[in-house]
Amino acid sequence: MHFRSGILIITLIAAGSFTANGQEESLRAYADKIGLNIGTCIFGRTYQSGQYSEILTRDFNTVVAENEMKAQAMQPQQGQFSFGTADAMVAFAQEHDMKVRGHTLVWHAQNPSWLSGGSWTRETLLKQMEAHITGVVSHFKGKVFEWDVVNEAFGDRATNGVNPLRGSFWQRTIGDDFLDSAFTYAHRADPDAILFYNDYSTSNVNSKSTSVYNKLKEMIENGVPVSGVGFQSHQTLEDYDEEFIASLKENFDRFAALGLRISVTELDIRITLPSGGNDWVTQAEYYREYLQTCLENSACKTFMIWGFTDRYSWIPGVFPGTGEALIFDDNFEPKPAYDELLETLKNYKPDAIRSFGGFRNNPASRLFTAGNFSRSIFNLRGEKIGTYSFSPTLLISAGGRPPAASQTVVIENGKRPMVLMR
Ligand code: XIL
Repeated sequence: MHFRSGILIITLIAAGSFTANGQEESLRAYADKIGLNIGTCIFGRTYQSGQYSEILTRDFNTVVAENEMKAQAMQPQQGQFSFGTADAMVAFAQEHDMKVRGHTLVWHAQNPSWLSGGSWTRETLLKQMEAHITGVVSHFKGKVFEWDVVNEAFGDRATNGVNPLRGSFWQRTIGDDFLDSAFTYAHRADPDAILFYNDYSTSNVNSKSTSVYNKLKEMIENGVPVSGVGFQSHQTLEDYDEEFIASLKENFDRFAALGLRISVTELDIRITLPSGGNDWVTQAEYYREYLQTCLENSACKTFMIWGFTDRYSWIPGVFPGTGEALIFDDNFEPKPAYDELLETLKNYKPDAIRSFGGFRNNPASRLFTAGNFSRSIFNLRGEKIGTYSFSPTLLISAGGRPPAASQTVVIENGKRPMVLMR
């Protein structure tokens, strides 16, 4: 117990490290402890062997197919589905106890030409959409826990502060309500899947995210089964400053207030090449702040990076002159960003524990006079992982001064009891 000028300091003492069972320290081990889905995209068959596979299975508990569940891959010919490559990914994920995100059902890009180049009416295209969604979602029912049902439906240009929907073949042929149908078909095919709207340049407050916000709000009010919003988060190092992070938090909060889940779905942070002295350190801070923002919002339970090694990132090909966007370098060496993510997960305390720590800033009387000396602790998945309680010897001081007495808090945190002492 440590008292310093009347201030109560809570020390967390774990019986050994968080990595139980002699498990190697990793992003995954800490994410598992707090119930966070931490993930990366995978591609082709690279995930099956070698160093790539070792890092993948050590550090991540969730995967998404980079391209292999897109319409082009899923239904190359009309009415003929091709599940082989994606099935192999799902089987691998299951063997390694990993969850699978599904990406993506309705998008303007990476479609087979029979679909994007077909001549459709509203009715016939809705039929195709229904057939595609039903075929894919029911195939992966129970195996894919969350789906990006509609991807990138919004345009990038605002008129009077409003970004209209992009003029994709879906929007032009069906109309602005194509999203409603997509979510409805997906929900029918798998009522248990969490259904996401996913987009880029929408993670902070701006005209595009506000347009998405208004659309999702309206859909929810109309009973459309949309249950989450995905923020792709293809960031540049230049975006990063305090104001951006504040805006990120504000944006997460307003979407969460609609009752939606939030997922960070495709995070990467690209650097203008050649990278300079501090770039990797700044990048690491940016990764940390992003993760911290997710952890601080109880609606954010999935945090995905768009790949993990710079060797295979899509960035240099699509944004020439930039790169080094991920958390391992070309040679699979962890970058500072990896260490920051690890530390952030390691130090994360569920809300109940954090509010206890926040004690120091709060009048003790406000916290404890209600006589509530026992509280449950939940992880990010909403699973109860323990309780903490105060010993009845706790003395409560009046007038907002910190308590003068000590207490021990025991937490049954899964397999590992932890002791919180004053
Ligand atoms: C990208 C893949 O990473 C590339 O391999 C592919 O050539 C193009 O698509 N937003 C998305 C992802 O929703 O599907 C995109 O993935 C990246 C941007």
